[in-house]
Amino acid sequence: MERIVILTGAGISAESGLGTFRDKDGLWTKYDLNEVATPEGFARNPDLVHTFYNARRANAAGAAPNAAHDALAELEARFPGEVLIVTQNVDNLHERAGSRNVIHMHGELAGALCAACDHRWPAPAVMQSNDPCPACTAAKTRPDIVWFGEMPYRMEEIAASLWDADLFVSIGTSGEVYPAAGFVDEAKSAGAVTLEINLEPSRVPGLFDRVISGPASQAVPQWVAELLARS
Ligand code: OAD
Repeated sequence: MERIVILTGAGISAESGLGTFRDKDGLWTKYDLNEVATPEGFARNPDLVHTFYNARRANAAGAAPNAAHDALAELEARFPGEVLIVTQNVDNLHERAGSRNVIHMHGELAGALCAACDHRWPAPAVMQSNDPCPACTAAKTRPDIVWFGEMPYRMEEIAASLWDADLFVSIGTSGEVYPAAGFVDEAKSAGAVTLEINLEPSRVPGLFDRVISGPASQAVPQWVAELLARS
């Protein structure tokens, strides 16, 4: 059975109206990531961090999946092998398009996490730092997002999938953030064919066997149609 692992980043949601991080006008040109995306920033100013993620939760709730999300859901439904999406995105546009086999390695806006006892529960639309944890009542509520300096989720499962992959596809990610940026090397050294789909080639040439350049909403459906036609 053929196995495909697809890594997605902010670029796949860009045409749904959600900002990327490192492009011109990206989120990290407007916000200091040390203040809003680290445990230290949260300890210094939890209200600022909640304001940042509350705004992103509202944006994501108002956005709809685009043709790239739809095409990956169609691929999962129709491909005769296995399709796994490993996403760095914290929106739920893959699921809303119909994808089921999705790993959110950087957490989800939809989740709340207690920094005191690690209890998890569904996040309300607006989170506040004095919201009590439903399990331990501590007022240490945080978004269930993996911040810089923290370990991404489900890494063992991801490593096993990369090891077994026949095809590794990276879509809409700059390749600036590890460990995700290293997945192409892992998959390639385990024998997978590697493909990048991005607005512009993002990494040093050679890591990917093939590069398709273009907006995800066009390039991903074209690639999915090509793959389904030959399988
Ligand atoms: P980046 O903002 O670093 O990169 C977005 C990539 O998407 C760039 O390579 C763009 O060229 C590409 N892109 C933009 N628009 C596109 C489009 N319409 N179609 C296809 N590609 C497009 O975002 P990520 O790589 O996802 O982590 O960033 C990785 C991590 O860094 C994020 O998960 C986040 C961030 O800090 C945390 O917050 C922990």
